Amino acid sequence: MCGIIAHVGTDRALGPLVTGLEKLEYRGYDSAGVAVKNGNGLDVWKCSGQVSELKDTIDTVESSATLGIGHTRWSTHGPPSDENAHPHTDESDRVAVVHNGIIENYESIKQILLSEGYEFTSDTDTEVIPNLIAYYLDRGNEPLAAFKHTVADLEGSYAIAVVVDGNDSIFAARQGSPLVLGVEQDGYYLASDVPAFLDYTDTVVYLEDGDTVEVRTDGVDIVDENDEHVQREVQQVDWQPDETGKGQYDHFMLKEIHTQPTSLQKTIEGRIDADEHVTDLDVDLDLTDIDTVHLVGCGTSYHAALFGSSILNRCDVSARAIRASEYDVNTGTPPENTLFVAVTQSGETADTLQALRQASDVGASTLAVTNVVQSTAAREADEPLYIRAGPEIGVAATKTFSSQAVMLTMLSQHIARVNETASRVNNVGQLLSDLRALPSAVDRILKSSDAGDLAQEHLDKNAYFFIGRGLGCSVAKEGALKFKEITYEHAEGFASGELKHGPLALVTERTPVFAVCADDCEKTVTNAKEAQTRGAPIVAVSPPSHKIVDTADAHLSVPDMHPVCSNLLANVQLQLLSYYCATELDRAIDKPRNLAKSVTVE
Ligand code: AGP
Repeated sequence: MCGIIAHVGTDRALGPLVTGLEKLEYRGYDSAGVAVKNGNGLDVWKCSGQVSELKDTIDTVESSATLGIGHTRWSTHGPPSDENAHPHTDESDRVAVVHNGIIENYESIKQILLSEGYEFTSDTDTEVIPNLIAYYLDRGNEPLAAFKHTVADLEGSYAIAVVVDGNDSIFAARQGSPLVLGVEQDGYYLASDVPAFLDYTDTVVYLEDGDTVEVRTDGVDIVDENDEHVQREVQQVDWQPDETGKGQYDHFMLKEIHTQPTSLQKTIEGRIDADEHVTDLDVDLDLTDIDTVHLVGCGTSYHAALFGSSILNRCDVSARAIRASEYDVNTGTPPENTLFVAVTQSGETADTLQALRQASDVGASTLAVTNVVQSTAAREADEPLYIRAGPEIGVAATKTFSSQAVMLTMLSQHIARVNETASRVNNVGQLLSDLRALPSAVDRILKSSDAGDLAQEHLDKNAYFFIGRGLGCSVAKEGALKFKEITYEHAEGFASGELKHGPLALVTERTPVFAVCADDCEKTVTNAKEAQTRGAPIVAVSPPSHKIVDTADAHLSVPDMHPVCSNLLANVQLQLLSYYCATELDRAIDKPRNLAKSVTVE
């Protein structure tokens, strides 16, 4: 969703600001803009549409400004338009603001400002911020004081960056929306996430909720929620700048599918003891005497949660996967001794954070299975469990699903071991050694997959159905989500046994059915046959020796490994299938319409 970049340094600021906007594009947006402070005022460029369109206007500009702010906007208050794009300024163009989040009390602030004669030109909540700063400036406050008074008046969630005409600082604040400071020799960056400035520096300071910051070329002053001046830890991120580029690939999604052998290796590294076949997760949280586990996430992360809950249940640990947006209505108060596991790639998904807070409030132990170090979920949970998949730029989650599922598999074995549950997942020795072999198995799939050819045969159908049972059901649901997300074709994932309870009415010769049979699933074979009898072409996603292959019209092959691994490999085949279908249909694969990488509104 919205992304912020700000820079103060000794060189021209426009270049890093525009690069930052390009790096933020993956979050999803519909308009973009920048503002810089020149010797004689503020210059603002903004438009609805792509960063490339903004860039066309800015490229002609000779600006020597060394300080500025930029923004990619995903519309909430008001449609995408030039007027609603950020930065927003006050009516006299003294103050420019970029904002991520929602100002809940903007209407009451706006009424007061209107009655004082301030004028508004956009539909946004954000526009109250520059006008409120102007209001305080007009009453004799210095810029820093005007900014602080304004922040004190705001309710809601926000990350804000501000430039004020005639002042050499960037002012910023964080409350409930991410904001990270990048530190380099001659300057600083502020951004919604690290990739925005990773080309320039990997030295970062993660700001805390309640922090207000003044950033100048020669230093930073951070004040916390108690109005105390504080030093925050300076850290190095271990993401490399080339991880945020497409490299040799046409799309980030394809790159991320192809880097799964490496990302999975990193997820597993040091967490499985080869000799004793035990997992070592280094979780500083007592996981004994857990009565139930709630695995909570949205979209792909929810499917990883479903996958994890199946494994936990197989280990005799009671577990439920719950959609984060349904957590409050569908769960009630979590029972005593509940372990709440937030599954979230970004660590910033509003629905998931809301559920995490709800569980924390009633005393549940909480873990965050996340990819982003120091993300809100990582910080708010009792303990983070980092999946270490590296930056994921494609809106469609691929490598992070695989890493989340592997992380949850290892967590399930850890919980089963410390609780000495009677039965751990079948054949745990094989599971752990197959997990170690998973990266090279993914590599083999990537080199041998027939998904590209199959995609050619299955374009232009009415709908696409994905079925599976147990672990295969989570893979089927994820396969369908991926397919609809990037092809814009209708796709649904079902528990295979459910097909005959309704969806079968939709089945025709123009609705291919992809049957995930990476497990011992006789019943899925029967369900696939029921669809085939009604004319549907059946594509088996299974080991070559599985009996469904005899029934199926086509086959995507996966190695015969432990079911956990074979199912994850089936998912890789389905990722490739979606990718190749979307390529043939010429879709915006990395930035599908209407979607954002990280959904920070409920
Ligand atoms: C998956 O391809 C989607 N981009 C989406 O469903 C995503 O998984 C969901 O929004 C949750 O995001 P999170 O993992 O960052 O919390």
